[in-house]
Amino acid sequence: MEGSIIFSLSLLLFFTLAQGQTNTNPNPKCGSSFHQADKGSTLQVLHVNSPCSPLRHNAPQSWVDTVLQMQSKDQARLDLFASLVAGRSFVPIASGRQVIQTPTYIVRAKIGTPPQTLLVAVDNSNDVAWFPCSGCVGCSSTVFATDKSTTFKNVSCGAAQCSQVPNPTCGGSSCGFNLTYGGSSIAANLSQDTLTLSTDALPSYTFGCVQKATGSSAPPQGLLGLGRGPLSFLSQTQSYYQSTFSYCLPSYKSPNFSGTLRLGPNGQPKRIKTTQLLRNPRRSSFYYVNLVGVKVGRRIVDIPPSALAFNPSTGAGTIIDSGTVFTRLVEPVYTAVRNEFRRRMGRNTTVTSLGGFDTCYTVPITIPTITLMFAGMNVTLPQDNFLIRSSSSSTTCLAMAASPADPVNSVLNVIANWQQQNHRFLFDILNSKLGVARETCS
Ligand SMILES: *[C@@H]1O[C@H](CO)[C@@H](O)[C@H](O)[C@H]1NC(C)=O
Ligand SMILES: *[C@@H]1O[C@H](CO)[C@@H](O)[C@H](O)[C@H]1NC(C)=O
Ligand SMILES: *[C@@H]1O[C@H](CO)[C@@H](O)[C@H](O)[C@H]1NC(C)=O
Ligand SMILES: *[C@@H]1O[C@H](CO)[C@@H](O)[C@H](O)[C@H]1NC(C)=O
Ligand SMILES: *[C@@H]1O[C@H](CO)[C@@H](O)[C@H](O)[C@H]1NC(C)=O
Ligand SMILES: *[C@@H]1O[C@H](CO)[C@@H](O)[C@H](O)[C@H]1NC(C)=O
Repeated sequence: MEGSIIFSLSLLLFFTLAQGQTNTNPNPKCGSSFHQADKGSTLQVLHVNSPCSPLRHNAPQSWVDTVLQMQSKDQARLDLFASLVAGRSFVPIASGRQVIQTPTYIVRAKIGTPPQTLLVAVDNSNDVAWFPCSGCVGCSSTVFATDKSTTFKNVSCGAAQCSQVPNPTCGGSSCGFNLTYGGSSIAANLSQDTLTLSTDALPSYTFGCVQKATGSSAPPQGLLGLGRGPLSFLSQTQSYYQSTFSYCLPSYKSPNFSGTLRLGPNGQPKRIKTTQLLRNPRRSSFYYVNLVGVKVGRRIVDIPPSALAFNPSTGAGTIIDSGTVFTRLVEPVYTAVRNEFRRRMGRNTTVTSLGGFDTCYTVPITIPTITLMFAGMNVTLPQDNFLIRSSSSSTTCLAMAASPADPVNSVLNVIANWQQQNHRFLFDILNSKLGVARETCS
């Protein structure tokens, strides 16, 4: 069942880029920034709403609306995490919730021979790749024209991979499957073709070829999962990339928001602080690490060790996630960190709230440092990585929140992408190491 659960999550995420309209008039300031050739095993990473992203929503939004929207999307993503527990049905999360989660960062992938370019979301908490395919009913925008590729293959019903998809259907000889979610459903075929990332061509890559999408959201361009589970990109490309990748996520403030995704051991930083990656077989896609404490200024916040402990059977612990925007800390940890942060502002400084952020100030404040203490590695965050600042309304908020109260998320700390900006995160799965280094990538 683990396989199907992973598939279903990926699929849900896959739905979401279609929300809103994509930007058909590229920002002239970007020039052809996203059209520069990717080099070697390094791909350019763009924020999906970057001025230079072809998938950017057109409607300009106020800063407050943007932040609140990102936070509400986080909630949907955490709901998806709640569905990832082994043993649950593959149809996840409470019905009636709209899927509004949007993968945050995109890279360019090429599929088929000759290669066709698609922009796919990168997500390190998901396992597989999905592309909308020609003939798809209900898919938005660009699709992969399977008949134009000389290397496209159906995965047959008898193939081992077919037993890993949910509800396989064997009409004809190829392996198809359906998924439902709320009011939406999709039908896809399990397929193989050459996947080209930057200049690396990976033959016979197995992915979901979406044929039909119904319901309130149409499937978007695609998803490249960098999770570590059994069906993952990393498993399929182990001989090329030796289960190693790194990314540097660009700053939300940067005008062109361009970072990099580097696949394989070549070109990775050699001298880098590391902490151990932990494996949870029940949540096999996730990159768990051992967060042992948090410092605010020089003070180590008083946190009960049990609130940070890794527990594979409950799912408790800390994950590094590229798809959630704002870090979530379990309730006792968040409360302790926030209280220390507030204490340093002085009792007379009025605390306000904004959406789900409960520690905001509208007066100038002196900002302490925040250090995440992992086993063997301390990471002191730059201010831009833990504050949301609005120049127009002069509001400053602590860019973190408590984990949602449901049984799954209430025990999970999620180190999210706002906190990861302008750092290289190196995932060395063979050696079970996570490396972190400051890097100005945008
Ligand atoms: C990003 O923007 C800066 C300044 O606007 C520019 O110099 C640089 O070339 C841009 N980078 C890319 C990849 O477009
Ligand atoms: C894949 O399967 C479909 C339906 O069974 C068939 O029409 C098509 O020709 C097959 N494509 C290839 C490349 O084998
Ligand atoms: C793909 O799936 C569709 C819809 O489920 C099915 O009709 C078609 O035969 C399948 N095609 C291939 C190539 O397997
Ligand atoms: C899957 O979806 C396709 C297309 O909507 C439909 O023809 C087929 O009957 C469905 N199969 C199952 C098992 O629901
Ligand atoms: C806080 O405000 C109260 C009432 O305005 C005042 O009496 C007190 O001195 C202030 N304390 C500090 C530390 O500024
Ligand atoms: C992290 O910081 C704590 C507290 O300042 C210190 O005791 C510890 O040695 C540091 N760990 C590493 C690996 O530097």
